[in-house]
Amino acid sequence: MDHDSAVREAAALLARSRRVVVFTGAGVSAESGIPTFRDALTGLWQRFDAQSLATPEAFRADPALVWGWYEWRRSAVSRARPNPAHIAVATIEARRPGTVVITQDVDDLHERAGSATPVHLHGSLFAPRCFDCGQPAPPPGPADEPPDGRRLEPPRCTACSGPVRPGVVWFGEALPEAALRAAAEAAAACELLLTIGTSGLVYPAAEIPHLAARAGAAVVQLNPMPTPLDPVAAVSLRGPAAQLLPRLVDAAG
Ligand code: OAD
Repeated sequence: MDHDSAVREAAALLARSRRVVVFTGAGVSAESGIPTFRDALTGLWQRFDAQSLATPEAFRADPALVWGWYEWRRSAVSRARPNPAHIAVATIEARRPGTVVITQDVDDLHERAGSATPVHLHGSLFAPRCFDCGQPAPPPGPADEPPDGRRLEPPRCTACSGPVRPGVVWFGEALPEAALRAAAEAAAACELLLTIGTSGLVYPAAEIPHLAARAGAAVVQLNPMPTPLDPVAAVSLRGPAAQLLPRLVDAAG
């Protein structure tokens, strides 16, 4: 199917759907300058070792290394701007109030584009909490200079003086229960699920589009590359989300 007919077909599906789920991954923020995890050359997990940065064991072994790396990412996100794909997602929500946005991203670009309450399946860079007692901690102020991935001692918890950790889900950790439940319920009840910029490799999050498809929803995928979600997608739009999603949303009205 050529690009134009794929956009037309996806737009027709969106036009006749009221209960829509938008499911996003790192690719939706790529054109805001935030690196993805698995893209060749630029992906974070191509350049950094996930086991020494994104596990509870890594934080226990070297809290300053892990905190510094996440503060570097937080400062990059703070300087980034939502791109036309985030804005198009917010437009879908504004036009179809039953829309649920589910994201695996730990940035806040959906919120800054106007999405009301995206479900954050993998937590947020802006919600740190105590590693020992779990009490939420205020995010540190904006860094004047990006810390550049340098080691940085984490702040201490005001309740128990344990080290404060980033509020993201690490490998080997469970997803936040309420977020996973909300995502599963929305996926099971939607008519259309748009999956945007995710490799579909990380479970249980990657189960969400499959769940929607099993419940009878149409799945539309936006991704420049093939993914394991291709078999469940009624339409796959191969290209960058910031170009394709605004076209799709305009065409659907
Ligand atoms: P990945 O890095 O695994 O996949 C990003 C996807 O975005 C790839 O399929 C790319 O082809 C696609 N992509 C790249 N540029 C794009 C663009 N401009 N428009 C649309 N798509 C584009 O990222 P995720 O699928 O989000 O987990 O990864 C899932 C989880 O793995 C993340 O949430 C993170 C990571 O480890 C945690 O932090 C817990």
